[in-house]
Amino acid sequence: MVIEPRMRGFICLTAHPKGCEQNVLNQIAYVRSKGPVDGPKKVLVIGASTGFGLSSRITSAFGSNAGTIGVFFEKPPQEGKTASPGWYNSAAFQREAEKAGLYAKSINGDAFSTEVKDKTIALIKADLGQIDLVIYSLASPVRTHPVTGVTHRSVLKPVGKTFTNKTVDFHTGIVSNVTIEPCTEEDIQNTVAVMGGEDWQMWMEALLQADALSENAMTIAYSYIGPSLTEAVYRKGTIGKAKDDLEATAFKITDLLKKVDGKAYVSVNKALVTQASSAIPVIPLYISLLYKDMKEKGIHEGCIEQIQRLFEQRLYTGADIPTDEKGRIRIDDWEMRADVQEKVAETWEVATTETLPQIGDLPGYKSDFLNLFGFGFAGVDYQADAQEVVPIEGLV
Ligand code: NAI
Repeated sequence: MVIEPRMRGFICLTAHPKGCEQNVLNQIAYVRSKGPVDGPKKVLVIGASTGFGLSSRITSAFGSNAGTIGVFFEKPPQEGKTASPGWYNSAAFQREAEKAGLYAKSINGDAFSTEVKDKTIALIKADLGQIDLVIYSLASPVRTHPVTGVTHRSVLKPVGKTFTNKTVDFHTGIVSNVTIEPCTEEDIQNTVAVMGGEDWQMWMEALLQADALSENAMTIAYSYIGPSLTEAVYRKGTIGKAKDDLEATAFKITDLLKKVDGKAYVSVNKALVTQASSAIPVIPLYISLLYKDMKEKGIHEGCIEQIQRLFEQRLYTGADIPTDEKGRIRIDDWEMRADVQEKVAETWEVATTETLPQIGDLPGYKSDFLNLFGFGFAGVDYQADAQEVVPIEGLV
């Protein structure tokens, strides 16, 4: 069938299999163009199908010839109904890994559950023995706790006081004010339960207990800080509380991993258009202004550029991994450069529906958003019939 984008709010209801494949092929080509990195060999990526997790899987496989196991939660296709993009991305990844002679298997299910952890560990034990890198890149609005059975829902709200600031509807380009009421104490607890560090720690405990981690194994989870402009709704909001918890968990996991001389780190990444970030108020306007300036300065990066640089210039240089005073790896260094942040703060002040086309990069935002769902890629014939039912080879 001919597949077109069908937008609803912050999501697109359709995804294009060929376009998603093109996205994966482009990322592989980028990683190959940067040359090999003496990196990990056996990698588990939790949240491997889109965004930073997908790029981590591609960088491991095509930059360092690693065997990879990917865990994700994606909607399979049905006759006449497309899959979610991560499904098609993973199908394309598996095909390309197979062609390159690389081990790759995938598990589609709820990573928060004990069942998926057990299944993943059984697969590691059967096929790879041990893992030397675990990437934890989940972004989810909901988690059912495996012990209590309680379903927690995360919220994106300020803590303590009402927040009002500008935002943009990236479909229409209309800049308006958004007001968000402060969260309750329960909202914080729920958001920490979903996006904090508990599940990461559960994964690492289970892997360690099963002797599925090699000597010197490393694990990385992704975090975000951002500027003061977005602080009330991001870093000092409910999601920021969860990130504080995630960052604190890295130290607890490093303690656990002493048994194998392993280490846990949080890498602070750049703000990028992903399914997770487009749902956060204020962030799309910030990203539009940020992209404009970073592109003009020639320092703009997408997920794959970020993760390739993280592996090549932070994790696998042969020297100690550089961290900030809180022990975090910083690959958001270009976003946070003083000249970039000063420019964004200036343009923020004057951003309106009328000025945004000159001072922001809304077309860049929109195009990245469409790309997430496999639309807008050069070289893909979107008028042609596309087969929506695509299997993922290597799905366990
Ligand atoms: P994303 O939405 O592109 O990817 C989320 C991944 O998690 C997908 O593979 C999805 O299938 C998987 N997933 C979600 N729920 C799951 C479940 N219950 N079981 C198994 N898999 C599940 O998100 P993105 O943006 O790549 O986020 C990944 C991490 O990076 C998050 O911790 C996020 O906070 C962080 N980050 C994101 C930034 C951004 O601007 N997008 C910036 C810095 C950090």
